[in-house]
Amino acid sequence: MPQIFPKALNPIAKMIVLGLPLFAGAAGLTGAAFYRSSYATGVNETVPQPVAFSHAHHVGQLGIHCVYCHTSVERAGSANIPPTKTCMNCHQQIWQGSDMLEPVRDSYRDDKSIEWIRVHNLPHYAYFNHSIHVAKGVGCATCHGRIDQMNLTMQHSTLLMEWCIACHRTPEKYLRPKEHIFNMQYDPANAGIDPVTGQPYPTDQKELGLLLKERYRVRDAVTLTNCSMCHR
Ligand code: HEC
Ligand code: HEC
Ligand code: HEC
Ligand code: HEC
Ligand code: HEC
Repeated sequence: MPQIFPKALNPIAKMIVLGLPLFAGAAGLTGAAFYRSSYATGVNETVPQPVAFSHAHHVGQLGIHCVYCHTSVERAGSANIPPTKTCMNCHQQIWQGSDMLEPVRDSYRDDKSIEWIRVHNLPHYAYFNHSIHVAKGVGCATCHGRIDQMNLTMQHSTLLMEWCIACHRTPEKYLRPKEHIFNMQYDPANAGIDPVTGQPYPTDQKELGLLLKERYRVRDAVTLTNCSMCHR
């Protein structure tokens, strides 16, 4: 082995010289691991809400449609959180005596919105828009997971840039027919009949994805990964 260190260098000095880059490498890895950890991204964590609202009850069991509450998701950049009035459409009659609903009744009586705590929160320098995703065949469950099975709402995806880009590079892996956007149980193996051709949709995601990519005029990967697409 060629001699790297002068003989005079003592073992501790050698360890420092050799060890520093190792240490710096390890710190970098730890940093990267932290950046992606659920602690940093908030994936699968619940937040303490003023009312224990359950999508599992309201969507999974009662079958209420997403748009009944998130009325703007198809037409605007952001999906709204419903006002208390929407809850009272039912809760004036149903479970009106329940303690769990007391903050809802207070909010309605005092005309003060319930202060829901945000589960998802992109940094302000990243631009996101719901309506275009919904219009181009990206389902709620693709990004938000099985909301219909969540008691307290959790973040399903990291929302990191690499996550956005992975799909913008190959959207065909994820696209679904628009009629299934809200379908929580959707499976490409039984997408049903294509209303355009009258034939069953291809059951292979790749084939289906490429068909929809063309039909919905989804732009190419170069355009969709352009920095100014999301940083405006
Ligand atoms: C009965 C009304 C209602 C229905 C129906 C409903 N939601 Fe919600 N949703 C809420 C309320 C209230 C909140 C805020 C409290 C919370 O985060 O759980 C919320 C929060 C969310 C959030 C997290 C928002 C944040 O803070 O980041 C997502 C994502 C979401 N809903 C998706 C859906 C999807 C997808 C559907 C349909 C499968 C749906 N919701 C159906 C009322 C509803
Ligand atoms: C392409 C991924 C993607 C799809 C598809 C998607 N969402 Fe979201 N959703 C997000 C992201 C990212 C945020 C956080 C936005 C922010 O912090 O500005 C979010 C936030 C939300 C919120 C909180 C309010 C808001 O707009 O910030 C609700 C409610 C919500 N989504 C409901 C839905 C529903 C209902 C659907 C299906 C119709 C849906 N989302 C489809 C990625 C998606
Ligand atoms: C379309 C009718 C309807 C709407 C709208 C509705 N709820 Fe409910 N909610 C129900 C019914 C029915 C139950 C009883 C569910 C059960 O026992 O399975 C219930 C139960 C509840 C409960 C207690 C049971 C539980 O664990 O979920 C809470 C808290 C609640 N709702 C909050 C809300 C809030 C907050 C809103 C508005 C964002 C809302 N609900 C909108 C029908 C509705
Ligand atoms: C699962 C796939 C998927 C994910 C995840 C996804 N996108 Fe998209 N995004 C699309 C598709 C498909 C389009 C439509 C492209 C088109 O029309 O050419 C789109 C379009 C957009 C547009 C263009 C809006 C416009 O008005 O032209 C923006 C901005 C955008 N996405 C931001 C984001 C951000 C930010 C994230 C991550 C937080 C994200 N997207 C995650 C699939 C995705
Ligand atoms: C499809 C959407 C999208 C595109 C395209 C995109 N970004 Fe981002 N970017 C995001 C989102 C979302 C975040 C915030 C989440 C995060 O920090 O990962 C972000 C964060 C960042 C950050 C700060 C956080 C970090 O990772 O250090 C920088 C810097 C950045 N982007 C640079 C760029 C550059 C340069 C390009 C073009 C090569 C680009 N972005 C393209 C969505 C996008």
